[in-house]
Amino acid sequence: MSSNSPPAPHPYVRPPRAGAVPLIAPRVLRQLLDGEGPPLLIDVRPLPERRLAHLPGDRHLPLEELVAGVASLPADRAIVLYDHLGFRARRAAEFLIDHGFGSVAALEGGIEEYARVVDPGLARYSGDERGSDLIVRQLPRPETGCLAYFVGDPVARVGVVIDPGQDTAPYQALLAEGDWKLAGIVETHTHADHLAGHSALHLTTDAPILVSHRSPAQYPHQRLTEGEAVRFGSQELVVLETPGHTQDHLTLRLRDQIFTGDTLLLGSCGRTDLAGGSPERLWESLQDRLLRLPRETEVYPAHYGPLHALPDRYVSTLGFERATNEALNQGSREAFLRYMTEGWPPKPARFDEIVASNLAA
Ligand SMILES: [Fe+2]
Repeated sequence: MSSNSPPAPHPYVRPPRAGAVPLIAPRVLRQLLDGEGPPLLIDVRPLPERRLAHLPGDRHLPLEELVAGVASLPADRAIVLYDHLGFRARRAAEFLIDHGFGSVAALEGGIEEYARVVDPGLARYSGDERGSDLIVRQLPRPETGCLAYFVGDPVARVGVVIDPGQDTAPYQALLAEGDWKLAGIVETHTHADHLAGHSALHLTTDAPILVSHRSPAQYPHQRLTEGEAVRFGSQELVVLETPGHTQDHLTLRLRDQIFTGDTLLLGSCGRTDLAGGSPERLWESLQDRLLRLPRETEVYPAHYGPLHALPDRYVSTLGFERATNEALNQGSREAFLRYMTEGWPPKPARFDEIVASNLAA
């Protein structure tokens, strides 16, 4: 499959309702802002990020407050949403399009790209994506619809890979290019839809494989329990046990971000009818664990939908998912349990064989 082909529909992901989100390039936005009837610019970032820099004449409406604030937006004016890199703005644009706004776009590349190509005087984020003390890389696999992650402390040059795919070349390249040492390989859960890459990556890096203490894994691994920390340099991933999609599912929390595996996807959550899942446990994990975290917490899932046409990253916030996510808006526990047991795509082919392979020594 060429890199330009749309990803195939994924068996874990219900097809999203919206199509691709229109993007606007920084130079085009600059022209529109200088012209007649400029669009309404909306910054969807939380306040701490906005304080670094923002575009003049804009309005501030953080993504997690968008649902409450949508009624205050003008229906007859073009709207351009922006954030740091463009991904939360896409999520916001998708929501507005779903709610009948006719002229909505997200700023491609976010304020970072705008500062680079249009306004070099605009204050930039320091260092890498999150400042100089933390790097988060989203590593998509279009052929499987999966998202793996690399998180690293750029000072100590130590990082962790989360949910590596079978082809470990992208992780090897990232580690080699950045001269990174790998402190660990974390599996959020036993995958049933694709072959995992933990053993291959372990063989070449010698980094330990870290999984839930509930995992029936037969390969050499270290077991993680609730509240435990996976340290890399000055940073740490904190373990939250979130069974439901599978009984061995973990969510990893890193400061104000959570890597949710298939417990919480963008717009939905992972199905529970494969590999020992339980809709009741998933309900408890969502309600009692994840949704109690601050609403500005950023959500990094393990899958993405087939119609998002995403470039290389995709992210939401807990507040936005709480307000818009189909699975989280069923109205009652009973309705959620029904939602989780009806209407899903056919089970992935040979999923039981994939599970067995992913657990093998
Ligand atoms: Fe999964």
